[in-house]
Amino acid sequence: MVKRCLISCMFLLVINKVSSEMAVAVEGGNVTLPCVYSGNVPQSEEMDVFWRYNDRNVYSIFKGKVSATGQDPEYKGRTESYPEAYGQGNFSIKLSNVKASDKGEYKCILTFAVNITSIQLKVTAPQPTAPQPTPKPRNKGVGSRSAKILLIFTALLGYNQVLL
Ligand SMILES: *[C@@H]1O[C@H](CO)[C@@H](O)[C@H](O)[C@H]1NC(C)=O
Ligand SMILES: *[C@@H]1O[C@H](CO)[C@@H](O)[C@H](O)[C@H]1NC(C)=O
Ligand SMILES: *[C@@H]1O[C@H](CO)[C@@H](O)[C@H](O)[C@H]1NC(C)=O
Repeated sequence: MVKRCLISCMFLLVINKVSSEMAVAVEGGNVTLPCVYSGNVPQSEEMDVFWRYNDRNVYSIFKGKVSATGQDPEYKGRTESYPEAYGQGNFSIKLSNVKASDKGEYKCILTFAVNITSIQLKVTAPQPTAPQPTPKPRNKGVGSRSAKILLIFTALLGYNQVLL
């Protein structure tokens, strides 16, 4: 009884909430856009989740099933979700092959909870590969110096052995 009250009270608290998050992607890479609902997750008949980018249909989960209907061509083949995680309220999606133009605000709309998560996606340019450090002449000097020291050391050692 107490437990049930606790759950319904918690459910009341999560209604009408908008939360915002940040995600950072590297151009050409993949990024997970998080949308995890902490309240009671409904049965699949009521499990409608809509991912939107401005007016674009990024991804839709309709009655607990992925729906490709109306998906913007821009996102075709570049999005996936984790159906095995829906039950835990995890409606995060993975956006692959991120483009610079993908940056901006994504909304994860949970119709059953009147809960919207807004994710600001930042896309950074891929890191240029570090230039090969040009070998410094100083290194060669150090190398030959230590070689000289080694030679002297070996010579002394040999001399000592001769003395003994
Ligand atoms: C609303 O949902 C988002 C994810 O969709 C979650 O991060 C946030 O915690 C939820 N708000 C509350 C109050 O549970
Ligand atoms: C949601 O599911 C994805 C894929 O399994 C996972 O990477 C991510 O960590 C999950 N998020 C949470 C908050 O559990
Ligand atoms: C990005 O996602 C695509 C599609 O799922 C996959 O083939 C590729 O291996 C992923 N790349 C990285 C770096 O994880």
